[in-house]
Amino acid sequence: MSTRTLAVVSAGLSQPSSTRLLADQLAAAARDELVRRGAQVELRVIELRDHAHDVVNHLLTGFPPAPLREALDAVAAADGVVAVTPIFNASYNGLYKSFFDVLDDRALVDKPVLIGATGGTARHSLALEHAVRPMFAYLRAVVVPTAVFAAGEDWSGGGPDGALRGRVLRAGAELADQVDRRPPATGPADPFALTTDFAQLLGRRDD
Ligand SMILES: Cc1cc2nc3c(=O)[nH]c(=O)nc-3n(C[C@H](O)[C@H](O)[C@H](O)COP(=O)(O)O)c2cc1C
Repeated sequence: MSTRTLAVVSAGLSQPSSTRLLADQLAAAARDELVRRGAQVELRVIELRDHAHDVVNHLLTGFPPAPLREALDAVAAADGVVAVTPIFNASYNGLYKSFFDVLDDRALVDKPVLIGATGGTARHSLALEHAVRPMFAYLRAVVVPTAVFAAGEDWSGGGPDGALRGRVLRAGAELADQVDRRPPATGPADPFALTTDFAQLLGRRDD
């Protein structure tokens, strides 16, 4: 049985956060579908608010502090990514954009990504299509067709209503399908890995 890893990125700023809630629901839907297909699944949750200062430091210095490095590596090493942002001023929030700005620009190439967003009004749901999806297209990720937006009224009663639940399940299944079509991810290249063996480096000859 293969083990698949999903990185779950949430850019919500509140605690508790509706963005995190949506990210968890999407990740659970994808995980359940992968398990149904016979995989073991590990979820790596990345709450961007915990890395907010480090993201800015990375932008200013070019170097990620260790916790942010781990988060970036978790995304690069994942078989699939769930990436959810709150909508601010009709687009992704700054923290979400900045995190993907400091991610290696090859880290998402051919990687399945499920995008989601939360907002105060469903009138801004197309921000997913005109702002979030193009950013991942630029990074050459494979963004699944169903993007999930949750407005305040979608959570009436404490959990997702019927319509949102349907979208979550469809999007999760689409992500699982894209992950399932690919071999397990190998992770980011080690910049310090040896490219020749020690014998060659030392010029040793066996004859
Ligand atoms: C600065 C700011 C701008 C916002 N702009 C929008 C907006 O343009 N459209 C919208 O639907 N909601 C907007 N909102 C509402 C947030 O999207 C909403 O509070 C968010 O989904 C809450 O997510 P959280 O619970 O994870 O913090 C805005 C909120 C803030 C603080």
